[in-house]
Amino acid sequence: MTDRTNLTIVLAAGEGTRMRSSRPKVLHPVAGQSLLAHVLAAAPGGAGSLVAVVVGPDHQAVADEAARARPDARIFVQQERRGTAHAVLAARAAIESGADDLLVAFGDTPLISSQTFARLRKPLAGGAALVVLGFRAADPTGYGRLVQDDKGLLAIREQADASDEERRITLCNAGVMALDGRRALEILDRIGHANSKNEYYLTDAVAIARDLGLRATVIETDEDEVRGINTKAQLAEAEQVMQQRLRKAALDAGVTMIAPETVYLSGDTVFGKDVTIEPFVVFGPGVSVGDGAVIHAFSHLTGASVGARASVGPYARLRPGTSLGEGARIGNFVETKAATIDAGAKANHLTYIGDAHVGAGANIGAGTITCNYDGFDKHRTEIGAGAFVGSNSSLVAPVTIGSGAYIGSGSVVTRDVPDDALAVERSQQTVRDGWAKRFRDARLARRKPKA
Ligand code: UD1
Ligand code: MG
Repeated sequence: MTDRTNLTIVLAAGEGTRMRSSRPKVLHPVAGQSLLAHVLAAAPGGAGSLVAVVVGPDHQAVADEAARARPDARIFVQQERRGTAHAVLAARAAIESGADDLLVAFGDTPLISSQTFARLRKPLAGGAALVVLGFRAADPTGYGRLVQDDKGLLAIREQADASDEERRITLCNAGVMALDGRRALEILDRIGHANSKNEYYLTDAVAIARDLGLRATVIETDEDEVRGINTKAQLAEAEQVMQQRLRKAALDAGVTMIAPETVYLSGDTVFGKDVTIEPFVVFGPGVSVGDGAVIHAFSHLTGASVGARASVGPYARLRPGTSLGEGARIGNFVETKAATIDAGAKANHLTYIGDAHVGAGANIGAGTITCNYDGFDKHRTEIGAGAFVGSNSSLVAPVTIGSGAYIGSGSVVTRDVPDDALAVERSQQTVRDGWAKRFRDARLARRKPKA
């Protein structure tokens, strides 16, 4: 079956949405990735796989996201919203390329898995012309009902067009369909719009296939997998389902989580072996964590790679472009951005490191700030291997601290510091012996009894 070519068409033309948002529906995120990106990630990939995304006329942002998530995706525009079959036919040029299997999925159904796409294709290899993904709906209202006979699937009846008897059917159309790619256009071109909504229903493909003497069948899945997103509440439900899945996958892969229900993952979070994640950690997109690393409680990571045996947090924030080397340590209330921190380097407390490179084994004292922004441009800070930056130092970029150099605590460093040098920038300390005692005695004398 794997050598059959396939084309997946994802319908993402948007709709009168109840998300109460100016953002196109399929661009809302679940587990750090757009709904559309989830569907595209689940769609078959690799050699012999093509993907097409159908977008609405004003949805350049959706087209851009499709291209980002699946650079091989072809984009088609459905100029007018005239129904799901009409949307599929917007990608006619892709269908004409004649893949063995044609899959249709909705962009607002992000929980669909790649295994389900594979299961859906199987009956095609066995000679079925059409396979529909069905589920037992707790509340079938609004869904197309799957009408079966002894030969398989007979028809899909949309809610608005169903009889009372058909409305009692709880087996519903999830919206995902697989068609024999060589018969698909013959079937799709026969779909009309004589129904209560005056739309071209993709679901009519079933009855047409049967009229042509072809076999149509159903495979079933769990309702959780085919939840369509129309509201923010449904978006939050999908997030929960996805988080549960991602946590389970991480645990199955050997990640230690003390309180997995408090850890938020992204679809693309990557873990090595023997990683430990303490409670209340949030992983935004683009994070990888190396073998044996520990992410302590209340840390927030986005676009960061954490090296083997590194330690992050508690209360650390790793922003995009952070790369921690092996055994590096980022402690509490430390923020990093566009920062490469080499093996064994440490910034353990209250620090900002942005647009910087910290060499191996360097020690960044508490309260160190790389002053990377002058209000107009960002500038880089280079800190050499083995350097020691004393606490409460401001490193005003662009600036280079040589390897093995020392920075005296409290310095504002504006000029480069050579290797192995000491830089101290602060006023001389004055000490007056006995001053504090004399001060206290004088004040206490003034306070003497009024008697
Ligand atoms: C559809 C199915 C229904 C199924 C349900 C599952 C049809 C006719 N009905 O109904 O059987 O139970 O999904 O959720 O297929 N779209 C376009 N262009 C259009 C129309 C729709 O791109 O002209 C896209 C939408 O953006 C959406 C998807 O197709 O992603 C489904 O459209 P929607 O209007 O939500 O169909 P339902 O009425 O939910
Ligand atoms: Mg819908």
